[in-house]
Amino acid sequence: MTALIEVEHLTKTFFLGITRKRVDAVKGVSFSVQSNEIFGFLGPNGSGKTTTIKMLTGLIRPTGGRATLFGHPVPSVEAMRRVGFLPESPYIFPYLTPREYVEMCGRLSGLRGQALRDRTTAVLRRTGIEYAGERPVRKLSKGMTQRSALAAALVANPELLVLDEPMSGLDPIGRKEVRDIILEERREGRTVFFSTHILADAESLCDRVTILREGRAVVSGPLRDLVRGDVLHTDLTLAQASEALEMKLRAAGHETHRRAGLLVVEIRGQERVNDTLLEAIRGGAQVVEVSPRRETLEDLFVRRAIDAPTDEPRTTAE
Ligand SMILES: Nc1ncnc2c1ncn2[C@@H]1O[C@H](COP(=O)(O)OP(=O)(O)OP(=O)(O)O)[C@@H](O)[C@H]1O
Ligand SMILES: [Mg+2]
Repeated sequence: MTALIEVEHLTKTFFLGITRKRVDAVKGVSFSVQSNEIFGFLGPNGSGKTTTIKMLTGLIRPTGGRATLFGHPVPSVEAMRRVGFLPESPYIFPYLTPREYVEMCGRLSGLRGQALRDRTTAVLRRTGIEYAGERPVRKLSKGMTQRSALAAALVANPELLVLDEPMSGLDPIGRKEVRDIILEERREGRTVFFSTHILADAESLCDRVTILREGRAVVSGPLRDLVRGDVLHTDLTLAQASEALEMKLRAAGHETHRRAGLLVVEIRGQERVNDTLLEAIRGGAQVVEVSPRRETLEDLFVRRAIDAPTDEPRTTAE
């Protein structure tokens, strides 16, 4: 496989205001994105996702390290011709309609005439904004503007999509539609690099992820290797569980809590599930649910990132 994006020890330091307060936004991040994969660039607010994306797309220059797009060192106008980019806070000229804006982006990418008109209609339809295609953008909602900007990123059939928080501002149906678009793009042979701070969104989509924290990559790799679906514990939910039974289960080392009149028992170790169930039934309780809790990307992030030491202070005056 060929790497479409190659990033090595990329860093970005900002100096803020007249005091020149130093902000180390990206601190030596490395990763690579292979052809035809969905790559999730994850991390909490302020962890450096947008700053990295701005360096890749040539909006700001790196302080150090190296990055290439289609083998061209960034910034590269040539490489960007093959990229559909959705910025974090897309700005669309307020007096244009989504159709005019998407057509303008298509024309800038070399589309003309009927092909341009057909392609514009197709992407407006695909992003669910065709019905408002003739309204000025200043009269659109946040999610509708986001959909128009996504349509513009798709219009020229780019080989690589770089999407900064593509689900931001969208309702649940909109989020599902964007997930479907990302999957469809991959099926059609294209590559998708997208950022999000919502780990569950990434878990349902990505082949590979990098999770940033405070400007550093703390988790990186193929999703199937990172999240193996190991059972962390089993939640046993009981109705009519007496105080005496709860005490007994606690004495046996289980954690318990009450939720809406039910008792939830956290059973650690699968070998203890049968015995605990028997004990609960003998104790007069009614079994409502037995559900294994599997490790998610969020658990992995908490384990690897939150537990890891951080640099203090994050920002220092120079
Ligand atoms: N132009 C700038 N000048 C100074 N500091 C900046 C600038 N741009 C970003 N930063 C700082 O860099 C850090 C990383 O910001 P960035 O926007 O890359 O985060 P992010 O991961 O995209 O967060 P979010 O999920 O909120 O979008 C933050 O501390 C931010 O304040
Ligand atoms: Mg961001």
